Amino acid sequence: MQKRILLTGSNGLLGQKIIHILQDRVNTSLLATSRGVNRHPVREGYTYKELDICDHGRVARAFEEFKPTHVIHTAAVTQVDLCETEHAMCDNINVDAVDNLTQLCKAHDARMIHISTDFVFDGSSGPYKESDSPAPLSYYGNSKLKAEQVVEASGCKYAILRTQLLYGITPAMSRSNIVLWVKDSLEKGKNIKVVSDQFRCPTLVEDLAVASVAAVMKEADGIYHISGAEMMSIIDIAYKVADYWKLDKALIAETDSLSLNQAAKRPPTTGFIITKAQLDLDYKPHSLAQGLAHVDRQMKEMAGSI
Ligand SMILES: NC(=O)c1ccc[n+]([C@@H]2O[C@H](COP(=O)([O-])OP(=O)(O)OC[C@H]3O[C@@H](n4cnc5c(N)ncnc54)[C@H](OP(=O)(O)O)[C@@H]3O)[C@@H](O)[C@H]2O)c1
Repeated sequence: MQKRILLTGSNGLLGQKIIHILQDRVNTSLLATSRGVNRHPVREGYTYKELDICDHGRVARAFEEFKPTHVIHTAAVTQVDLCETEHAMCDNINVDAVDNLTQLCKAHDARMIHISTDFVFDGSSGPYKESDSPAPLSYYGNSKLKAEQVVEASGCKYAILRTQLLYGITPAMSRSNIVLWVKDSLEKGKNIKVVSDQFRCPTLVEDLAVASVAAVMKEADGIYHISGAEMMSIIDIAYKVADYWKLDKALIAETDSLSLNQAAKRPPTTGFIITKAQLDLDYKPHSLAQGLAHVDRQMKEMAGSI
């Protein structure tokens, strides 16, 4: 059967990678949507529509016109510290828009693939499996948990893909990530402070994009944990980035969460057990070493040197 996929947040890091996989794919029609003009460099093989997910009327009209069989919902406010102060904006984008999307999915019999986060956990006992109890520490984490609950209660067909610490590169990015930030800072000779008391499974964005599409194709149901397979501290990730690009590790200073004093509290140890995704979705994540090589290759392609 022809899949008609409505993608939200297509200008984001994950959204752009999903376009890359789905454009021109056989038996699939893609409507990519995001705020503002299309920032994806490739314009063929799919349709783009400017769509603010908080404009519920326009989202409903997009459903009427496109008649999606699946929605991949990547759009979110992802700035964790901003959410700590901008509660109304965070609720509108991360919760209310999800409520509207799931109601529309139910009415149109479309499956919702909803992207969530490790920040639904308090980080006291990672790595986590899908059935572990959430207990968010931040407003952002709480908004994403509320969104999961909205999806689950809506009665629509759904899969929730929780992910963590995404890294990767696309043209025209609206925000950085751990790998690009460390590489860029060290290349400029800047001193950086990196926490050694937070542990994650860094996730190559292409791996999550492949898993999102697999969730559509395999009609995945329920919650899935999608991350890299290796758990490490954030400072170890920074050291690996320095090693890979042969940059000066002496610029990296160790700090801890308390000294960093960020607006939103971060969970100390998350990490995921990914067995369910490996079994059901044939999920095969890259190692961090492979992921860094992948990012390096893409940077060279974007610079036109290969
Ligand atoms: N990045 C991570 O480490 C991480 C970790 C765990 C979970 N996640 C989840 O993964 C998903 C994708 O993250 P990402 O890293 O790809 O985020 P991203 O790069 O920040 O992309 C999110 C996209 O959503 C768009 N957007 C925001 N508000 C919108 C609205 N009202 N209407 C339409 N589009 C809107 C943004 O538009 P603009 O470009 O115009 O701002 C942006 O392009 C999110 O659900 C996030 O919560 C991410």
